[in-house]
Amino acid sequence: MRGLQGKSALVTGAGSGLGRGMALRLAEEGARVAILDVDREGAEDTRNAIERAGGEAVALELDITDYAACQAVVAAVKERFGGVDVLVNNAGWDHAENFVETDPELWRKIIDINLYGPLNMHHVTLPEMLAQGGGKIVNIASDAGRIGSSGEAVYSACKGGVIAFGKTVCRELARRGVIINTVCPGPSDTPLFAAFAGEGEAGEKLRASLARSIPLKRLGTADDIAGIVAFLASDDANFIVGQTISVSGGLTMHG
Ligand SMILES: NC(=O)c1ccc[n+]([C@@H]2O[C@H](COP(=O)([O-])OP(=O)(O)OC[C@H]3O[C@@H](n4cnc5c(N)ncnc54)[C@H](O)[C@@H]3O)[C@@H](O)[C@H]2O)c1
Repeated sequence: MRGLQGKSALVTGAGSGLGRGMALRLAEEGARVAILDVDREGAEDTRNAIERAGGEAVALELDITDYAACQAVVAAVKERFGGVDVLVNNAGWDHAENFVETDPELWRKIIDINLYGPLNMHHVTLPEMLAQGGGKIVNIASDAGRIGSSGEAVYSACKGGVIAFGKTVCRELARRGVIINTVCPGPSDTPLFAAFAGEGEAGEKLRASLARSIPLKRLGTADDIAGIVAFLASDDANFIVGQTISVSGGLTMHG
C-alpha cells in the first residue's frame, strides 16, 4: 500500500482483538504506531509483537473517556513521532442485555466509551492534522450501527452515531485534507465477542448459529479487518471519502 511508510498512526484499543491486528498491519506497512489502550499490559504485548517483527511502536496507557488524558497522549505521540497522520478509533466495549432490562448507569458507560471516546479522540487530534495539512481517520463502528443487534441497543446507537458523526466532520474538513471513513466489522472472534456470546454451551451455540448465517460460514478475525483499515489509511484510498464499509463475510450486504 502506498504512503504509509514513516507515517505516525494512533490506534485506540490496540491492546487486544481487532485493534491489535490493525496496529500490526499498519506497522507492517511501515507506519510508526502508537498503541493506546486502557489495558497497559495488552498495549505492551502489541508493542512487543510489532518490535519483534521489525516495526516501530510505542505503547501508551489511555482511557479514551478522559478528554485531558487524550490531549496529553496526542501531544506525547506528536513529540515522539513528529506528527499525527492517521487515527484509528477502534476501542469499544459492550455488555449484552435487552434494553428494557438495562440500567441507565450501563447506558452511560457504553456511551462514554463508544461515543464520547471517539469524539474526544477526534477533537484532540484534528487540530494537529489541520496544522499539518490533513490526515486520515478510520472509525471502527459495527454492523450493529447499520442494521441493529439484539441485546446491544445503546451500543448500536453509539455505533450509528459514530457513522453519522464521521460523515459530518468529514464534510466539514475534507477540503482541508482530513479524510474520514468508517469500517463496520461483522461478528469477529475476539475477547469482546466472547464476552457478548457468553460462556459454555450457550456461547458455542450462538457462535455456531452466527457462523451458519454468514455466507463465508465463519466469524471474522483480526486479520480480516486489518487490511481495509490499512488501505483506508493509505494513499491508495485518497479519493474514498466519508464511506461506511461492512467487513462481515457477507452477513450484511449494503448497496
Ligand atoms: N468483535 C466483534 O464481533 C465486533 C463486531 C463489530 C464491531 N466491533 C468493534 O471493533 C472494535 C474492537 O473490538 P474487539 O472485538 O477487538 O474488542 P476487544 O475487547 O478485544 O478490544 C477492545 C480494546 O479496547 C480497549 N478499551 C476498552 N475501553 C477502553 C477505553 N475506555 N479506553 C481505551 N481503550 C479501551 C480494551 O482494553 C481492549 O484492548 C470495537 O470498537 C468494537 O465495538 C467488534
